[in-house]
Amino acid sequence: MTKNIKAVYQGSFDDLDNIKISPLSRAFLFSDSIYEVIPFQNNSFICSEEHFERLTYSASQLNLPINIEKIKEEINQLFKNTNCKNGYIYYQISRGIDTIRSHIYNSNIQCETFGYLLPLEFVSKPLKAAVCEDIRWNRCDIKTTSLLGNVLQMNTAANQNCDEIIMHDNNIITEGGASNIFFVHKNTICTPKLSNKILPGITRAILIEAIKEQGLPFQESDFHINTLKEAASIWFTSSTKGVAPVKEVINFNTKLDLDNDLMKQCQILYQQRVVN
Ligand code: PDD
Repeated sequence: MTKNIKAVYQGSFDDLDNIKISPLSRAFLFSDSIYEVIPFQNNSFICSEEHFERLTYSASQLNLPINIEKIKEEINQLFKNTNCKNGYIYYQISRGIDTIRSHIYNSNIQCETFGYLLPLEFVSKPLKAAVCEDIRWNRCDIKTTSLLGNVLQMNTAANQNCDEIIMHDNNIITEGGASNIFFVHKNTICTPKLSNKILPGITRAILIEAIKEQGLPFQESDFHINTLKEAASIWFTSSTKGVAPVKEVINFNTKLDLDNDLMKQCQILYQQRVVN
């Protein structure tokens, strides 16, 4: 499965299978680490600068002294050496390899970096989703690898044959388990507003820019989870899913139209943005 995957660890390029990490990595011990997933289609990155900006923001929130120029070079190197047209680069930075396991880190350690490139065909198939409580922490705006809340809820949903989850915090919709959420309500495209409760998705931002340019009816706000019962359509956005329609929300009384005009327009707008 991991054969022939090209990776870079601590600045050295190698096959993923050859990379060994220390158990004293603070990513391994504490999830004291951040990451990005940077997609490419038809041999071009999609909004790589925005991903680098978000990585820089995440690093600043954890006080990680990253060298963004070196990271860009490594990512570009992985990308240059591949012959696959579509896929993504995963890049992770941990606080470093510590001297002993301690919540309080040794301030002399260097950041630990790791990236790899994976081919991926971007096919957006209609998804089945489950509604669940958002059990995560209060800094979901940082893209950290501390994803246990997402992992637990997504696997509960997967056991019910669902592909994604729709999380709510005190009945206010937040986001998907690995994506942002949009829906059409009363002929308006709606999405939860940015806050510490959700990740500022790059795909979300691309789509909102296109929606605004087109002058489509749009609202960014707090929405009660029951609003989805009246939604004409729902979709998720992410770097790997693109704009992915929801066909069913289990145990929730929704009537979703996969041919909804506003959703279709969003799918087309997003495709136009990423292909050009
Ligand atoms: N996840 N919200 C969460 C919790 C996410 O994990 C993601 C992306 C998004 C969408 O962000 P973007 O549009 O920038 O990809 C929103 C990535 C793809 C992942 O963890 O694999």
